[in-house]
Amino acid sequence: MTEKKVSIVGVGNVGSTLAFTLATKAVCSTIVLKDIRENYVKAMALDISQAANASNSHTVVQAACSSKDMINSDIVVITAGIPRKPGMSRNDLLSTNAKIMEEVIIDIKENCPNAIVIVVSNPLDAMVYAALKFSNFKSNQIIGMAGILDSARMSHFIFEKLGYGAGQIESSVMGGHGDDMVPLPNHSNVAGVCIEDLLSKEDIEDIVNKTKNGGLEIVKLLEVGSAYYAPSYATSIMIEAILFNQRKIFPCAVMLEGEYGFNNIVSGVPVMLGANGVEKIIELELTNEQKNQFEKSVSSVNSLTSLLDKEFFTV
Ligand code: LAC
Repeated sequence: MTEKKVSIVGVGNVGSTLAFTLATKAVCSTIVLKDIRENYVKAMALDISQAANASNSHTVVQAACSSKDMINSDIVVITAGIPRKPGMSRNDLLSTNAKIMEEVIIDIKENCPNAIVIVVSNPLDAMVYAALKFSNFKSNQIIGMAGILDSARMSHFIFEKLGYGAGQIESSVMGGHGDDMVPLPNHSNVAGVCIEDLLSKEDIEDIVNKTKNGGLEIVKLLEVGSAYYAPSYATSIMIEAILFNQRKIFPCAVMLEGEYGFNNIVSGVPVMLGANGVEKIIELELTNEQKNQFEKSVSSVNSLTSLLDKEFFTV
């Protein structure tokens, strides 16, 4: 338990589940919840605070009355934005969520310019890009949550095929958080044994496809929104790594400045997370096929960020 403050902007399913996880695990001393629905966010703060008391955690959970309540936050998580509904791709959310992002990130810059910002809003990579451009924050300071989620989904599908190894599966997914994400079977293993030694080519292909569609499958089944338990848990892992300066490696969406041969592009890559947010970007050895897939994923993200450039950032 550290004397640390985490603010969460956008307290829908992901924001509230994240607050619940942080509060009941006593990951930080204060959680501030900010949402445009005033009574709703007060209800969330009360309910989650009472859960914290039930778990003997001394995390204090507050509803923000104004943006000033975010002052001195060590981390701000942004989940604000409209979520996907059936029939919508993550990209359909681009312009609406970018406008919301502009307001939110400027508010954060005014009130806690030194905070590390974790972006969860979709379309994820484009929202990280927008947050960086609207705020001029340093690129180590804004990090997108997607890779941990996509890797956890891949691990789930690997277990479904294998029927053993639960809790021992480490998966690796790179690229944008979209249809062109790049699951990396040759970097995925069960207790150190590469999945290519355990599963057939067909099974691995199936796992790769299911991973890419992991979010969509849940959107279709839910009918009223998108996944939230795995996204919020994945975010809590990033928060712990940053608050406790763990310097652990996770796949996260960050601005590339020459890494993997790309500039001014946000994509999912292995990142070392610590007190400064992005401590280091790790460059993995990719096969030629994986390089091509990564390039394709980058160009999908690029097509969105070009639209943002046109609408918001033309010089
Ligand atoms: C998902 C949404 C949150 O992947 O992007 O579930």
